[in-house]
Amino acid sequence: MPDLPENAMRSEVAVESENAVRSEDGLPPREDSVLSVRRLAMTLTSRDGVSTEVTADVSLELGRREFVSIVGPSGSGKTTLLRAAAGLRRPTRGEVRFEGQPLADVVPGISVVFQEYNKSLFPWMSIGSNVAMGARRLPKEQRATRVEAALAEVGLTGFASRYPFELSGGMQQRAALARAMVSDPKVLMMDEPFASVDALTRGHLEDVVARLWEHSTCAALLVTHDVGEAVYLSDRVLVLSARPSRVLAEIAVGLPRPRTQRETRQTPRFAELSAEVLDYVEQAGRASGLGSPGAAPAAPG
Ligand SMILES: Nc1ncnc2c1ncn2[C@@H]1O[C@H](COP(=O)(O)OP(=O)(O)OP(=O)(O)O)[C@@H](O)[C@H]1O
Ligand SMILES: [Mg+2]
Repeated sequence: MPDLPENAMRSEVAVESENAVRSEDGLPPREDSVLSVRRLAMTLTSRDGVSTEVTADVSLELGRREFVSIVGPSGSGKTTLLRAAAGLRRPTRGEVRFEGQPLADVVPGISVVFQEYNKSLFPWMSIGSNVAMGARRLPKEQRATRVEAALAEVGLTGFASRYPFELSGGMQQRAALARAMVSDPKVLMMDEPFASVDALTRGHLEDVVARLWEHSTCAALLVTHDVGEAVYLSDRVLVLSARPSRVLAEIAVGLPRPRTQRETRQTPRFAELSAEVLDYVEQAGRASGLGSPGAAPAAPG
């Protein structure tokens, strides 16, 4: 595959007409946008005063019911981008808009699930109380029912009184997902949510997320190292370039839903899409000297 200029694959995004009005950075405007990241640049400074330009210029539009994944080499700024998109970190340049309004802080409409489930759940609280934390803004009379429904949705009925340490890693991550979804967010963001579990559990958790998303009305933004996972779950996959990152490629998935591990992953189209995404990730990895996903973990940055 030839080296492509940055953003070359943006043309893969469906554009209704050549004459469609474009925003300043060339992204087609979306009427159904729930989250919009515009020309985001992030420079982080470590405690010893070293500044790193992590993200140079990233734009993305997330439609109300879309599932979008972000992949890219280690250290390309995926976590940094997600944190900025969630209002957890202020952009150095550019802006994030949630429901049309500039995002300056965390908001109830955006839920985030991180990789370390042992850090997402409060160890001193039962699973039921942990999930109830996500429901604290709901009217009091609805909370118990909603917590029960959220636990049922992730297959944890009957586990409300258990404590996190009494559950397997996969179960804890399901509890974290229940807590994220119990408030009925507009956007569910996930940063490598399945990276700490075994392969079989990972497949189950991917399906839990797929069903949660299908049964909800939210959009999802997933950061993952796993190209197959990104394709399996998403409507679109964005590949970040090496740091300072830009969107190197954007691949529309278009596989029919509902998808199943056994059938979807065996289709020739799934293999083609995964290979395409992997080519771009490897291209970005070569530029950063960090190699491809699945290779031995490289030191971030
Ligand atoms: N608080 C910070 N201060 C300074 N630099 C930071 C800070 N947090 C992250 N960085 C640097 O920013 C770069 C991008 O980090 P980030 O965690 O966003 O990458 P990533 O793509 O999520 O990587 P990984 O795939 O390994 O999770 C890295 O070089 C990292 O060292
Ligand atoms: Mg990360």
